[in-house]
Amino acid sequence: MAGGTQRISPTAHYTAEVWARNGLAPAELRTLQGRLLHLALAPINAAGQRRFGLSIEPFLLARHRGIDALLSSAIDAGEIGQVVELAAGLSPRGWRFHQRYGARIDYIETDLPEMAARKRAALTRAGDLDDHHRVTALDATRPTGPGSLTELVSGLDPKRGTAIITEGLLNYLPRGQLLGTWTRFAGALAGFPHGRYYSDLHLDDRSSRPVDLFRLALAGFVRGRVELHFTSTAEVEQHLQSCGFISASVRRGDRSIPDPAPGAELVHVIEARTDPES
Ligand SMILES: C[S@@+](CC[C@H](N)C(=O)[O-])C[C@H]1O[C@@H](n2cnc3c(N)ncnc32)[C@H](O)[C@@H]1O
Repeated sequence: MAGGTQRISPTAHYTAEVWARNGLAPAELRTLQGRLLHLALAPINAAGQRRFGLSIEPFLLARHRGIDALLSSAIDAGEIGQVVELAAGLSPRGWRFHQRYGARIDYIETDLPEMAARKRAALTRAGDLDDHHRVTALDATRPTGPGSLTELVSGLDPKRGTAIITEGLLNYLPRGQLLGTWTRFAGALAGFPHGRYYSDLHLDDRSSRPVDLFRLALAGFVRGRVELHFTSTAEVEQHLQSCGFISASVRRGDRSIPDPAPGAELVHVIEARTDPES
């Protein structure tokens, strides 16, 4: 089921708590599970801070704000009018972009059925869902059929620029599944006048002890493997192009946002296009 990735769902509660604590989310997206996980991980974060000057939050915030910045600049440029976020969990991005852009964009949040139902209920309580912001169940690893991206995209407006977003998903996918997913994203976006894909990604930086510790801590937390498939930004860009994107750029987290905190460099932010740069 869901390519084995449903084991990572608890992490969505933790990140929801981080987004809320940093003023990015409404109270309705917080959960008790998230508060407890945040409390439980506080000593590990404090130890990382003491030992390496690093904690989890700066890279989470760098990836989240880095993707926000790329998406809002494409919307402001009039290139993107539809957004499909996969594995959205309890992320507040859909809520924030809907508050900010209203009917200028259609924002569709998706996740596995249980999480999608939870998100829909929370956003309904926040009074935020309407024709321009909805939540639907979708398995990012399903190639075709009901609950697949292919099916969802076939119902979108083919004349509007479209963006796909994943955040906090790629490093849990085995390599074959990751490349298959990118190929499907590029194929789906190629049908629109502008097509963009935004995501975070962790690289395999063997020289970095914090990266090793991060991988171990996260693998324990999600009770499974954390995959670091690529060693350089050039390698990621090359693979995205082999999967069908016309161009791709991968930037370090601390170079994706203003005023990054130490730790933002542990993550990278992807922008890939199916339309040529204007
Ligand atoms: C680390 S959380 C990230 C949530 C959100 N993007 C964020 O950054 O706060 C991972 C999310 O991926 C979802 N997920 C896991 N496997 C999935 C799949 N095969 N298709 C879609 N979503 C999936 C989980 O339910 C969870 O909400």
